[in-house]
Amino acid sequence: MNTENIRARYKKLIKVLNEHSYRYHVLNEPVVSDSEYDQMLVELRQIEGEFPEWITPDSPTQRTGAKPPEKFDKVQHPALILSLANAFDGDGLRAWLERISKLDERVLDADFVVEPKLDGLTVVLQYDDGVFVRGATRGNGEVGEDITQNLRTLQSLPLRIPVTRQGPQPPPRLVVRGEVFINLADFEKLNQLLLEAGEKTYVNPRNTAAGALRQLDPAITASRPLTMLCYSIVSGEGELPDTQWGTIAFLRDLGFPVPGEIARYADIESSVSACEAWIGKRKDLPFEIDGAVVKINDLILATDLGVVGKDPRGAIAFKFPAQEVTTQLLDIGVNVGRTGVLTPYAILEPVEIGGVLVSQATLHNFDFIADKDIRIGDRLLVKRAGDVIPYVIGPVMAARKKDVSPYQPPKLCPVCGEPIQHKEGEVAWYCINPTCPAQLLRIIEHFVSRATLDIVGLGIKIVEQLVNHGLIKDVADLYTLTSDNLLELEGFADKKVANLLSSIEASKDQPLARLIFALGIPNVGEVVSAELARKFQDLHALSKASVNEFEMIEGIGPNIAEAIVGWFGRLENQKILEKLKSAGMWPRSTIQAGETIGEQPLSGMSFVITGTLPGFSRKEAKDFISTNGGKVVSSVSKKTNFLVAGEKPGSKLDKAQGLGVNILDEAGLRELVSKG
Ligand code: IVH
Repeated sequence: MNTENIRARYKKLIKVLNEHSYRYHVLNEPVVSDSEYDQMLVELRQIEGEFPEWITPDSPTQRTGAKPPEKFDKVQHPALILSLANAFDGDGLRAWLERISKLDERVLDADFVVEPKLDGLTVVLQYDDGVFVRGATRGNGEVGEDITQNLRTLQSLPLRIPVTRQGPQPPPRLVVRGEVFINLADFEKLNQLLLEAGEKTYVNPRNTAAGALRQLDPAITASRPLTMLCYSIVSGEGELPDTQWGTIAFLRDLGFPVPGEIARYADIESSVSACEAWIGKRKDLPFEIDGAVVKINDLILATDLGVVGKDPRGAIAFKFPAQEVTTQLLDIGVNVGRTGVLTPYAILEPVEIGGVLVSQATLHNFDFIADKDIRIGDRLLVKRAGDVIPYVIGPVMAARKKDVSPYQPPKLCPVCGEPIQHKEGEVAWYCINPTCPAQLLRIIEHFVSRATLDIVGLGIKIVEQLVNHGLIKDVADLYTLTSDNLLELEGFADKKVANLLSSIEASKDQPLARLIFALGIPNVGEVVSAELARKFQDLHALSKASVNEFEMIEGIGPNIAEAIVGWFGRLENQKILEKLKSAGMWPRSTIQAGETIGEQPLSGMSFVITGTLPGFSRKEAKDFISTNGGKVVSSVSKKTNFLVAGEKPGSKLDKAQGLGVNILDEAGLRELVSKG
C-alpha cells in the first residue's frame, strides 16, 4: 500500500472503530465481536506507530494514555451553567406554573418535557468542527475545571460528531451539557472487587463518580466504570433546535448518549402524573435518579422567562420524597465471603424507605463501625440510594441510651470459629482457615482452575456436589476420590467418572510452581509461585523456610514472606501437605538441592509473550520459561530482555521494536534454553 492508501485506511479505521464503540457503549447493540474490534485497533496502532504525526484527537487510542496534569486548569463556560429550583410534590409544580404564568401567559398553553433527574455530576463538553476539544466540571457555574483528559476515557463520550454516517452535520461550535454517573450494577461490581482485595468499599455511586472525575491521573479515571447522558445544549453556532424535545433528538442523532426515558406532555396535570409515576419507576432504572425534571418544551419561551439567581424559570426539579429514615440497630451480623473477607452488616428494626421494607444494611468493614462509633442499640440514620442499596449514614447521637457500649469486632470467624487475621495496610479482616466452610468452595475452585492445576471437568457445580456430599473437606481429598464415591453423585456415570479421575491423576504432572499457586496462599500469585518453585525443591523445603529467607527472594517483601510462613505454620495446612504427599501429588522443582538460580539457562531474564506460538499453548510457554529460570511479565518495557512473538502478534511487537527489545520466535526461545 502506498502512503496515501495507508492514510485513507487510517482515517477509515478511526471512523469505523468509533462507530463500533458507539454501538457497543451507547446503543448497546454491537455488530462486531470484541476480537474483530481488537484486530482493527491493533491495525490502527500499527499505523500510528509508523506515522505518529497522523494521530488525530478523535482516534480511539487517544482516550487513554494522556499524562496526568499537575493541576486542573480553569475554564470559563460560554454561558452560565444553571441549576434548578425544586418542587417536592404536585402542588409545588402547579405553584411553579402559576408563578411563571404571571410573567408570561403563553406558558398556560405550553407543552412540557419530563426527564429523569440523574444523580451524577454535570459536565460541559465543547466540540469545534465536530471534534471534542474540551470538557469541564460545572464549578461555580461560570468557571469550571478542565477535565478533558479524564472525560476522554469515557467510552460513551463521542470524540467526533456525528458518530455515524447518518448523523446530521454538526454546527461549527457546540457546547453540550451532560451528567456523568456510575450504573448501579457497575458500582456493586466495583465494590465487590474492592472487598475481595481487602480494600475500602465506596459508599455511593455519586461520590465515587465525583472522585473518579477529579483524579489527576486519567488512567485512574479510566479504571472506574463511568458513564454519561446528555440533555441540553449550553451554546452553539449555526442552526440549533428550538425545543427541548428537538434538542434531545438532535443530540441523539449526533451520537450523544441521551436519556431514553423522556416524554412530552400537553399540560401541567399530565406532567404532574408523570413525575408521580417516576417515584415507583425509579427502581427499574439501571442508575440512580433523585427526581424528575419538568421543562418547558419551547426553548425560546423558556429563555424569555429568565432566571432567578442560578435557577432558570423555564424548568423545575421534582424531588422525590426523602429516602432517609431512622431505625433501631438490633444487632451487627458478620458475613464471611468466599475470599475469606469478613463483612459486618446492620440488623435493623424493619423500616419502610420509599416503599420498600429494609431490615439489613451493609456496614462495609470494622473501621467504618469504629469511625462512625456505631453501637448495638443505637438509632441509626439509614438511606436508600437509588432504591437499591440501603446504607447507614451513622448513629443519631442525641438518641443514644446511656448503657450502650462500643462495638467489639469479633476475634474469631463466625463460621468456623478460628482466629481471624488482618493484613498490614488493608482494612479487611480475613478468615484464613482453609477448611472454613465459607471458603472451601472458593479454595477448591482456585485449586482446580485453568491457571493453576487445570483439572478439566471439575467446574464449580461438581465442586459443590463433592463438598455438599462431604466427599472433600480440603483440596487434598480430591486425590483420594474413588469411582464408588463419584458414582454416588447425581449426573455421574462410568464415563464421566473415569474422565474426572484421569484428569485429577494428570494434575500430578503439573510443575511445582502451579501447585504453589494452587494452594491459595494469600498474596502469592503466579509470578511469586514461579520464584518460589525456582528456589525450593518441594513443598516440604518451602514449608521450612523462614521469613528472612523469603525476603531474600526478588519480588518478595515482608507481607508476602509473612503470609507464606503463616500459611505453612498452620496445622491444617501441614495436614494438607502430608495428604498431598501420600497421594503422590508431590511435584519437585527441576532444580537440584543446592543449585542456584544462576545456573539456569534463562535466569535473570524477563520475557513477554505475544501472538500464537506453533508448538506451545500460552500456559506451556510460560511454564517453559519459568521452569528454565526466566520470568514472564505481561507488558513490554525497556527492562524486558526478550519478546517471544508468534503468529498475529499484538501491539506488543511494535512497542518492543520501538524500544529495541530482542525479538524471538519459538525456535529462538528453545535454542536459547538448549544453548544455555
Ligand atoms: S437541566 C438549564 N436536566 O440536576 C438546565 N439537570 O439540581 C438546568 N440534572 O445541576 C439543568 N438530570 O446537574 C437538567 N435531566 C436533567 C438533569 C439535570 C440531572 C442535574 C444537573 C443540575 C442539577 C440541579
